[in-house]
Amino acid sequence: MRKRVSVIGAGNVGASLAQMLLQSGICDVVLFDISEGIPEGKALDLAQACPLWGSSSFICGTSDYAHTAGSDVIVITAGLARKPGMSRDDLLFANAKVVSGVTEKAAPVSPGAVIIVVTNPMDVMAQVSLKISGFDPRRIIGMGGVLDSARFRTFVAWELGVSPEDVEALVLGGHGDLMVPMPRFTTVRGASITELIEKERIDSLVERTRNGGAEIVALLKTGSAYYAPAAAAYQMVEAIVLDKKRMMPCSAYLDGEYGAKGIYTGVPVILGSGGVERIVRMELNEQEKQDFAKSVEAVSSLVKKLNL
Ligand code: APR
Repeated sequence: MRKRVSVIGAGNVGASLAQMLLQSGICDVVLFDISEGIPEGKALDLAQACPLWGSSSFICGTSDYAHTAGSDVIVITAGLARKPGMSRDDLLFANAKVVSGVTEKAAPVSPGAVIIVVTNPMDVMAQVSLKISGFDPRRIIGMGGVLDSARFRTFVAWELGVSPEDVEALVLGGHGDLMVPMPRFTTVRGASITELIEKERIDSLVERTRNGGAEIVALLKTGSAYYAPAAAAYQMVEAIVLDKKRMMPCSAYLDGEYGAKGIYTGVPVILGSGGVERIVRMELNEQEKQDFAKSVEAVSSLVKKLNL
């Protein structure tokens, strides 16, 4: 039987993710939204594209959580997106309410699911979902590092005139303004970019990565990025549904790893059918440790505001 993936929130990110999942054919999809008619309409449209994509996957659009029952993966994209001038943190209280309501309804009917949280500020929203669901923390994961790393890969590829496919990048820390791009661990077919690009240029690529989401918000004006966020969430769902044991940077619940305790932050993990199957420990230098600690502190201050 095909795995079932429920996408909660049929907006820009959710609908794009549903499209990618259907095109891949790796699972059936339930597209959920509270906005009447939208999930059903988008699901019908997507279903009618399946014959053209050669996909046998099934999609159901709904506003009834009963249809999400028995999901293997739940992706939460519901909530507000940023507008120009807003940081991800400005969404805190409104989105905490949405994510807590969604988790309250979705988790009990899919007790074995892995939950991927996309809604921003994502690291904090993962913590909200953990608290409300009572799930094992390994089965609640935040999407941030895969997206931030893809942005860094893109900018490095443009800088060097190489295919982004040949660039591997690592961005750790919270999915916010203090994220920690890691040039030392960013490579072109094994060669570190610290050997290939001069420091000032690397600094500016790091800055553009940190600002990657805001750059798009400023251009779109009416919302935030969604193609790359959906593609990043897709890569995580695929690793879980196909039990790929892929290593990627995700927001995971830290219990002492990287010097942080009781908090979600982006670290390299092994993703498989059990969710976060392992947190990979990497040796950070002093500067990286300091930057990582600052990023954790920023997530932690938001968690405190919510009294979680
Ligand atoms: N339950 C279900 N769906 C909800 C709820 C809720 N309680 N509240 C809002 N939604 C739905 C909206 O109806 C809308 O269809 O969430 C959807 C959000 O879609 P968009 O506004 O298009 O936002 P999007 O760009 O998809 O971003 C969603 O992902 O990347 C993050 O920062 C981004 O937090 C934002 C989230």
